[in-house]
Amino acid sequence: MRNSYNSLNAKSPLLQALPIGYCFNEFEIENVVGKGGFGIVYQAWDHSKQCAVAIKEYLPSMIVTRRNDLKLKLRHPNFQKRFKIGLHSFMREAHIMTCFNHSCLPRFIRFWQQNSTAYIATPFYHGITLKVLQVKYAKTVTQNWLCHLLSPLLNAIDTLHQAGYLHCDISLDNILLQNDRLPVLLDLGSARKIVEHLSDEEEVTVRPGFTPCEQYTANEEGQQGPWSDIYALGAVLHTLIVGRPPPVSIVRNIEDRYQPLTEQRLTGYSLSFLHAIDCMLAIKIAERPSSISKLIPMIKSPIIQPYTPPELSLCLSEALVTCPHSEDSEQE
Ligand SMILES: Nc1ncnc2c1ncn2[C@@H]1O[C@H](COP(=O)(O)OP(=O)(O)OP(=O)(O)O)[C@@H](O)[C@H]1O
Ligand SMILES: [Mg+2]
Repeated sequence: MRNSYNSLNAKSPLLQALPIGYCFNEFEIENVVGKGGFGIVYQAWDHSKQCAVAIKEYLPSMIVTRRNDLKLKLRHPNFQKRFKIGLHSFMREAHIMTCFNHSCLPRFIRFWQQNSTAYIATPFYHGITLKVLQVKYAKTVTQNWLCHLLSPLLNAIDTLHQAGYLHCDISLDNILLQNDRLPVLLDLGSARKIVEHLSDEEEVTVRPGFTPCEQYTANEEGQQGPWSDIYALGAVLHTLIVGRPPPVSIVRNIEDRYQPLTEQRLTGYSLSFLHAIDCMLAIKIAERPSSISKLIPMIKSPIIQPYTPPELSLCLSEALVTCPHSEDSEQE
């Protein structure tokens, strides 16, 4: 095993990342594909199986830095506890992956500890995240396209929920659209059991625009549930359709400036579809679909006319007449 910067000629694109060419037994690092506050994701080649794998390294950059021998060292001795709490979450991410065998959830290959940290290997999924798609190919997004995306995605999210887990971080960069168009819901790093209480030290995942109010105030019993992931998924759909996420939920809780999609004169979308997304994004939990099984018929149900002032209703019915997909999608 090659294990030092000096023994490799290839340069790493990131200072903290392992160098390209670094090997974990049969896995050889080829590239860095993602870097967040808690870790680095590498594309690697599995020489024994002759296929690409993704290796996620636990590397919370605020807490640790990499030494020349490639092991991690704490930035300050006081950070030991925080590092261990994060490592525990990382191990939980690996454990949760082992519980599922779904084509749209990352498949667990291996977990191991090395370089004073830990690693998770999964298959490498070739494609682009919805974040990239939204920036580069926004025009591909139509109601039909979204329905095709949603069908397997909702099934994957429901599988998590049925097993008693919440994803807790559904977002554009955690949904990867493979080249064969099948989505994968990545990053179970924030996932937890529905009934699980966070310890005071554990960090709550918060993504402004995507995180529902109840997730900011983590520990209240019964507050978080499938409806919390449904809010985040609604924010993903909202972003894909109008190009920006809804206003931050806790701000909406004080003064709600959310403009319902049904009132935005969006051509090419049926009112029932837009109404379903507006419901997913309700601030009050009771107004959201409480489960994926309740959401599915809403997305496909006949048109529901929400209350709108008379002139706007006229515009909306006009939009429906001219909407190319509305009939198709209602029949689905
Ligand atoms: N198996 C995979 N195949 C291809 N690309 C991947 C894979 N896993 C992750 N990626 C890429 O790496 C990025 C980051 O991965 P991921 O979301 O798992 O980590 P993260 O957001 O850094 O983690 P965390 O939120 O736990 O800190 C993804 O947005 C995606 O672009
Ligand atoms: Mg992520």
